[in-house]
Amino acid sequence: MCGIVGVIGKKNTTEILIQGLEKLEYRGYDSAGIFVTGHDDQDHLVKSQGRIADLKEKIDGRVQGDIGIGHTRWATHGKPSETNAHPHTSNDGRFVLVHNGVIENFEEIRAHFINDDLLKGETDTEIAVQLVSYFVTQESMTVKEAFKKALTIIKGSYAFALVDKQNPDQIYVAKNKSPLLVGLGADFNVICSDAMAMIQETKHFVEIVDGELVTIWADKVEIEDEKGNLIRREPYEAQLDLEDMEKGTYAHYMLKEIDEQPAVMRRLIQRYSDDQNHLKVDAKIVEELIASERVYIVACGTSWHAGWVGKQLLEQLVEIPVEVHLASEFGYNMPILAKKPFFIFLSQSGETADSRQVLVKINHLGHPSLTLTNVPGSTLSREAKHTLLLHAGPEIAVASTKAYTAQIAVLAILAKVAGEGRGLEKAKVFDLIHQLGLVANGMDVLINEKEAMAKLVEESLSTTRNAFYIGRGVDYYVSMEASLKLKEISYIQAEGFAAGELKHGTIALVEEGTPVFGIITDLVMGSHTRGNLKEVESRGANTIVIAMEGFERSGDAIILPQVDTLLSPLVSVIPTQLIAYFASLQRGLDVDKPRNLAKSVTVE
Ligand code: F6R
Repeated sequence: MCGIVGVIGKKNTTEILIQGLEKLEYRGYDSAGIFVTGHDDQDHLVKSQGRIADLKEKIDGRVQGDIGIGHTRWATHGKPSETNAHPHTSNDGRFVLVHNGVIENFEEIRAHFINDDLLKGETDTEIAVQLVSYFVTQESMTVKEAFKKALTIIKGSYAFALVDKQNPDQIYVAKNKSPLLVGLGADFNVICSDAMAMIQETKHFVEIVDGELVTIWADKVEIEDEKGNLIRREPYEAQLDLEDMEKGTYAHYMLKEIDEQPAVMRRLIQRYSDDQNHLKVDAKIVEELIASERVYIVACGTSWHAGWVGKQLLEQLVEIPVEVHLASEFGYNMPILAKKPFFIFLSQSGETADSRQVLVKINHLGHPSLTLTNVPGSTLSREAKHTLLLHAGPEIAVASTKAYTAQIAVLAILAKVAGEGRGLEKAKVFDLIHQLGLVANGMDVLINEKEAMAKLVEESLSTTRNAFYIGRGVDYYVSMEASLKLKEISYIQAEGFAAGELKHGTIALVEEGTPVFGIITDLVMGSHTRGNLKEVESRGANTIVIAMEGFERSGDAIILPQVDTLLSPLVSVIPTQLIAYFASLQRGLDVDKPRNLAKSVTVE
C-alpha cells in the first residue's frame, strides 16, 4: 500500500504534491509527509500523523521549492507516527526517500550494514535510505551506483523515489512489484503510484518495469535496464476523466459509486456489444477458456466474493468446472491443477499483491490467464495474458461496490459468449443484453429507496455489536459480500453464512435482538432459508428478509425487483451496500476511509 508522488520543474511543487497525495489517500491514510527543496538552499521536510488534511494544516502554505517527493502511508512496519511517516532521511541528512512496499530482508540489512544508533524509527524504509548513504560515504560510490547497489541487496516489494540534497535537480526512482509511473510535462516531470494522482498535471505517462532505474530531471527522463542499457519507451495517454474522480454533490464517494451501478451495467452492455447488438469478447480468450478442463478464479475480499457468483455463471452457461480460490492461500498451497487450466484473476485495482504472486507463479507454469480489472495498465492487467476491463470508472471509496457488480456482469458476458462458443443451447437462448437492462432498471428502483434503508438501519442496527447475513446458493455468496461491506465500514461484527450451516455452531452467537438478514432469490432454497430464519427468531433474533419479487412473503423488509436468477446478486447486493453505508453514517464513522484499511493492497 502507501502512495508516492514526486515533481520536478514546477513552481507550485507543494500544491502539486498535496493534490497528488489527496488522490492517493485511498492507498493509505495513517500518516503522510513531503520533502520539498530548490536551489535556494532551503529544504523542508514536513510529516504528520493522520490524514493529508493534517499534513496540509501543518504545512500552512509556507513550504516552497521546485523539486519534491511525498508519501501517504498505510503502516506495515512501525505504528503510524510522525517519526515513522515518510520521507525518511539518511543520518547525514543528505538523502531523502519515500517507499511503497515491504523490504523483506530489512533485519539482515540492518545487521550487516547499519549502525542501530542511526535509526530513528521502526520502519523497514529507513534501512533503504541509510544503505544508499552507506555506499556513498563508505564505498565512495556515486549516488546512482549506490542506489543501484542498494537495489541488488534489497528484497521485497518497493517503489522508491530518492532525492540527493546536494544535487536537487533530479529524482531517482525504481520499482519492484509496487506500481510507479513517470508523468511527462513541458519542462517538468512527475512520478506517482497511480496516474490519478497527477492527471491534473499531465495525461502522458511512461510505465516503469521492475528492475529498471529511472532518473528524472525537469526536462528529461532516463530509463536504464538492470544491465545499464538505456531504454526508450513511448508514453501512453491515460484515459481518466477528472470529473469521474470528484465527489460532486455527494457527501461520500461510496454513495456516488453505489448510485453509478445502473449506469455501469448499461455501459458494459455497450462496451461488450458489436454492431449487430451481440455480446462479444476477444475470440482468443473464449478459445482458451473453452479449451480448458477447469477454470480457477483467484481473488481477494470483495473480488473473491464476485468470483463465487462467477463460478455459478460459468458452470451454468459454459459447463466447465470452476474453482474459486483466495489468492493469499492459493499461491502457497496450490491444489493439484487440471492438465489444462484457465486462470481468471479478479481485481478492481489490478495491483493486489496476493493475487499478483499467484499470477507470477501461473505465468511461470505457462498457463493461460485473464485479468478482470477496473484499471487499464495495472500490474495484473499487464502481466496476465488477457484483460477484460470493468469500465466502472474510478472507484475511490475503500469499500468496493460498483467494481463488484461490474465484475459479475463481465463474468456473465464472458460466460454467455464462451457458452455460445461451445454451442450450448442454454447460453444461446440467454438474452443477456435484455437481462442486464432489467438489472440496471432494478438497481435504479433500489437506489431510490435510500430513505427506507436508512430507516431500517436506524431500527435494526443502531446499537447492535454484531449481525448476520444468511442465504443459500448465490444468496450465500451475496451474504458474504454484504457482511464484509457492513463490518468494514460500520465496525459491526458481521458474518455472512450459508443459511443451513448456522445451526452447526454459530447459532450460539444469536442473542435477544441480534439482527439476522436473510437473502432470498430462489423459491426452493428460499423456503429452507426461511426455516433457518425461524430457528434464529425463536432464539430471539431480529430477522430481516430481503426477498425477490415472486418469492416474497408478507412482513419481508425489502423486495427486490425481479431479474433472471443467474443475475440476482446484481440486485440483491444493492440494499446491503446501502445498509452498510447508512450504518456507518449513523455511527458517525468515516464511510470512505474506514480505519486500518487501504484501497489498494500492495503487500502480501
Ligand atoms: C472490500 C474491498 C476489498 C478488495 C480486496 C481486493 O470492500 O474492496 O476486499 O476487494 O482488497 O482488491 P482488488 O479487487 O483491488 O484486488
